[in-house]
Amino acid sequence: MKKLTLTCLTVSLLFTAGTVLADAEKSIEYRQSVFNVTKWHMDPLGGMAKGELAYDADAALHHARQVNAMSHMAEEGFAEGTEGGDAKADIWSNWDQFSGGMEKFQQVSAELVSAAEVGTLEALRPAVGEMGKTCKGCHDNFRD
Ligand code: HEC
Repeated sequence: MKKLTLTCLTVSLLFTAGTVLADAEKSIEYRQSVFNVTKWHMDPLGGMAKGELAYDADAALHHARQVNAMSHMAEEGFAEGTEGGDAKADIWSNWDQFSGGMEKFQQVSAELVSAAEVGTLEALRPAVGEMGKTCKGCHDNFRD
């Protein structure tokens, strides 16, 4: 009986450890996916801003909206205990700063949507520049 109890305990401990590991892996996969979607939509905006891609007001608005949507999805991929990937451990030791960076991501991408709604390249260009700086600012601090 004692042995059986111990076995059950061992199995449940192993199971718990396994679950935690799987969660971290899933979180890393989730947040990297969100950022890859973000990049998918930022690239054409960057191309238009640089004049490498023909300006298309409808496409710009679509892409800006998707970047803004992603800005609301990224943070939940960084739950406590999900260290790994290219995320620096500083994220969790400086959570307020990181979380502030996520808020900035939301704000600046909302301004990007407003700029895209104007419907001119002149309005779009500086907003894309600000967005790019915001991506880089967080990567410099929190990405390996
Ligand atoms: C508040 C912080 C923050 C902001 C803002 C941010 N990122 Fe990131 N980004 C990260 C972190 C942290 C990682 C590393 C995630 C990991 O590997 O676990 C990352 C990873 C990435 C990756 C690599 C994904 C992969 O497959 O490994 C891409 C691409 C990316 N970000 C694009 C962007 C773009 C484009 C923007 C701006 C529109 C942006 N990010 C804004 C923090 C941020």
